[in-house]
Amino acid sequence: MSSVSLRLQPFGTTIFAEMTALALQHNAVNLAQGFPDFDGPEPAKEAAKRAIDAGHSQYARMFGVPRLNAAVAGAFSRRFEPSFGVEPDAHVTITSGCTEALPSTFLGLINPGDEVILFEPFYDSYRACVALAGAVPRFVTLRPDGSGRFGFVESELRSAFGTRTRAILLNTPHNPTGKVFTRAELELIAALCRQHNTLAITDEVYEHLTYEPSLPHISLATLPGMWERTVTLSSLGKSFSLTGWKIGWAIAPANLTAGVRAAHQFLTFATATPLQHGAAAVIENPGPIVEDYKRLFRRNRDILAGVLGELGFRTFPSDGTYFIMADHTAVSRRLGAADDRAFCQKMIERCGVAAIPPSVFYENREHGRDFVRFAYCKKAETIDESVRRLRALAK
Ligand SMILES: Cc1ncc(COP(=O)(O)O)c(C=O)c1O
Repeated sequence: MSSVSLRLQPFGTTIFAEMTALALQHNAVNLAQGFPDFDGPEPAKEAAKRAIDAGHSQYARMFGVPRLNAAVAGAFSRRFEPSFGVEPDAHVTITSGCTEALPSTFLGLINPGDEVILFEPFYDSYRACVALAGAVPRFVTLRPDGSGRFGFVESELRSAFGTRTRAILLNTPHNPTGKVFTRAELELIAALCRQHNTLAITDEVYEHLTYEPSLPHISLATLPGMWERTVTLSSLGKSFSLTGWKIGWAIAPANLTAGVRAAHQFLTFATATPLQHGAAAVIENPGPIVEDYKRLFRRNRDILAGVLGELGFRTFPSDGTYFIMADHTAVSRRLGAADDRAFCQKMIERCGVAAIPPSVFYENREHGRDFVRFAYCKKAETIDESVRRLRALAK
């Protein structure tokens, strides 16, 4: 009998740990877990080292090192038109990655029995956060349309809202589909939030990683009437290739920030002090680094998509994040793999490339069984090697 608590038993070990272990076992190229295989920017590392040398090694302020709160608030304020005064100390809470900002927000603002709307496929921790808060999930499925871009059916979203809806969780740019929600989609979500007086929790960890000029990242909080009802979550890791630093944040008006901090103070209390100093340095002065990463990711995406297409996969446009979803069914038939898990297992064994079976990101796993997710946030040579290996699937 499992000793894991009943509320967490359904979730098992995350698929990322499982696939990374399998990748190591088979010496595979790891296009499964979403982290770059290159180091983050020198100025951030230098600033963190200086902070250690300067004796910044005790607990930070509960809601963040002042310089980092100011840097995050400044960067976010500039998104609003006209520029808006996000207050560093009143509105920003620094957390241990977005991973901690999520349960802080759920535990601090959602009551047992409240309903929370999730788009599926969803980043796997959302489902666990809903369970930790004792809330009830409602799902709206994203499916590819004629152009191959993932979208939702308006009537399905409308009917997910009801009298018990406390919040909707929106992830844009979206993992695992690579979707960037359009302004029209966000306006509809905003209108429903206002109409039903619900909160919005947004996960924007890929905020800087968009590739199509016609599909820029838009923060839901910047839409009319949304600042007062939105908790915007993001982090340093994805955009700045510093995933191991686990520096994240929640931005919200003071009444919602009170909820986030009520939970954050008992989950981690504060986040690694010297790394907060390093994070502040790179957010204040990012230089060309994010554009350099994006140039690399765009190149990797295009090469990977091209080869996957040649091999018989149907790929879907990846307008943001650093993931690309593909339909593997034509290739699976050749390999005799029944679903996405079996396919990923065979791909590791057959050609030494690891990817993620996305059915774990769906409540109804059947909805995801035809897909596979590849991460392209890697050095050019890693992608070139994986492409060379993937060609073994043609035989
Ligand atoms: C959508 C999404 N949210 C949150 C996270 C976790 O962010 P962090 O590393 O800042 O905890 C990830 C990491 O893969 C993610 O893909």
